[in-house]
Amino acid sequence: MHTDYPSWSLPLVSEEKKKKIKIYAEWLSSEGIKKGLISNKSDSYIWEEFIIHSLGFSRIITKQKQNKSICDLGTGAGIPGVPIAITNPEKEVFLVDRSKKRIHELERLKSILKIENFVPTLSSAEDFVSENVKKIDIFVSRCFMPAEKIKKQIFIDKERRKRKILLVSSNKEEKGNTFHVKQEKILLNNGETRNIDVLTLN
Ligand SMILES: C[S@@+](CC[C@H](N)C(=O)[O-])C[C@H]1O[C@@H](n2cnc3c(N)ncnc32)[C@H](O)[C@@H]1O
Repeated sequence: MHTDYPSWSLPLVSEEKKKKIKIYAEWLSSEGIKKGLISNKSDSYIWEEFIIHSLGFSRIITKQKQNKSICDLGTGAGIPGVPIAITNPEKEVFLVDRSKKRIHELERLKSILKIENFVPTLSSAEDFVSENVKKIDIFVSRCFMPAEKIKKQIFIDKERRKRKILLVSSNKEEKGNTFHVKQEKILLNNGETRNIDVLTLN
């Protein structure tokens, strides 16, 4: 397993956190592929696209000290929610997916990693947001839905949108007058970049 960290990510990871991230990356590469939680990927793909990209979300979240409650919509195998939880032990991270199998495996992962601050949650994103929007400060999602679709289909009314921060992986510049959009560039070890849209809903 590759375990290089780009310099921007080093403040996020103590030696203890690095050990847990390594266990998670190895779990993705073994159980994750075997159980069909992710498709067959090389170790370097898992490290760069899943782990380092997730740490990009974490870097943005870590700056938001007052925000304690995070939700990963369509978390799949826990991407980006698990690395966010490992690197932000003081925050609670809800991992939401409508797939029973994925939530079951995330429960097992939780006992392997021995961390308490993520909560695998079997629910549709639509229902979870409708029932819990008030207790969540920041919503994240990677490879789930484009931001505009999340807004239209999930944050459907004004009450749900109020001051909510959304961090969504994206490939293109997003424009629209209902969003405040800032795009953060995440530098991978191989010199490529990935984008995360930082949106404040209004
Ligand atoms: C392409 S995977 C992405 C997983 C992960 N975020 C990643 O970056 O690898 C999309 C995940 O979203 C889940 N999903 C799709 N629609 C959903 C919905 N409406 N509510 C909750 N989960 C959903 C699927 O079960 C799947 O695990």
